[in-house]
Amino acid sequence: MKVPFYGHTLQYNNIKEEIDANMQEVIQSGSFVGGPVLARFEEQAKNYFGTEYAIGVGNGTDAIWLTLMALGVGEGDEVITHPNTFFATAEAAWIAGAKVIFVDCDPKTKCIDPTKIEAAITDKTKAIIPVHLYGQCADMPAIKAIADKHNLLIVEDNAQAIDGAGDTFKQGELSDAVCTSYIIQKNLGCFGDGGMVFTNNKAVNDKVRILRNHGSAERNKHSAGFNSRLDDIQAAVLSAKMNHITEWTDTRIERAKRYDAALADAETIRLPYCTPGYRHVYHLYSIEVKDAAKRDDLQKFLNDNDIDAKNHYSIAIHQQEGYPWGKEAEVVGSIENAEINAASCVSLPLYPEITEEQIDYVASKVMEWDKANA
Ligand SMILES: Cc1ncc(COP(=O)(O)O)c(C=O)c1O
Repeated sequence: MKVPFYGHTLQYNNIKEEIDANMQEVIQSGSFVGGPVLARFEEQAKNYFGTEYAIGVGNGTDAIWLTLMALGVGEGDEVITHPNTFFATAEAAWIAGAKVIFVDCDPKTKCIDPTKIEAAITDKTKAIIPVHLYGQCADMPAIKAIADKHNLLIVEDNAQAIDGAGDTFKQGELSDAVCTSYIIQKNLGCFGDGGMVFTNNKAVNDKVRILRNHGSAERNKHSAGFNSRLDDIQAAVLSAKMNHITEWTDTRIERAKRYDAALADAETIRLPYCTPGYRHVYHLYSIEVKDAAKRDDLQKFLNDNDIDAKNHYSIAIHQQEGYPWGKEAEVVGSIENAEINAASCVSLPLYPEITEEQIDYVASKVMEWDKANA
């Protein structure tokens, strides 16, 4: 049985009429950039997300660094995050001009460990970037308490966690802004690149809107800025898909629980941990191989059996060749859990369109490998 890693085309075919109709509206309107469909999607997105403002930008990386810039974070400032995330989290801070301080992740959630943050705070620290890794929110109340104590900003990287929430909090409630990616492989993905900033801060909204559009709030008048816009065709696709995101997330969670049950007796792997009460949206179902030296062997075994297992991310940011590339970065404290995560992670296919039979097949192959390696 073949099990691809993504179900993009299946998903499109399931709601083809809705997406096609929205795209036709853009094409027939002749307004492709900064048009009414983008404005309508921004309205829909902010209502869905529950923030005052939603600003469409070119991609998730830009969403983070434009937000940092809008918040005044740049040269001479430090931001704290963890290194077992996609490269773009740190890259965005570097583009903004800041120094990146890496601390360890929590061994269970793989999100930033709040107990490691205070040791990394200096008089240059300006912001914390918690990443809601794999689809699970970081411990925002603990992070917020530290940020309040030290007067720091919080920019949530929720590229992997649209529709996720904590037990007592929603994304955006305990931070200055939330930055998402709409690249095709995300839980809510467009047909290419896209991103968005969600915020309750009017000044951030106003500033990002200007920055994304060549520093222009008014035709022919410019200040420093960039070109980073979500175009109307992508907004059209996202608008149709947003109507289905809750139902798709619910299916992801169901399928993840099916993996949990089928893999419960495995001795050689650790399963994803879901903080009680949190809505973990399983952007990735990432397991860890207890003997990290055997990680590649499991991945190869699955690939050889027609299962497109991958890993996210086998090289942590501070382990990348040539790090830190002349950019300023520093690791504070032991970073052991992040390194274990990078060395041992394997992502099993999971998306709303994957069938129960495919899940059972993948799980059976993982269990076969487990028995042979226990
Ligand atoms: C955690 C995380 N942050 C940031 C990004 C950057 O988003 P983009 O690729 O849209 O720039 C991604 C994904 O691509 C991501 O997974």
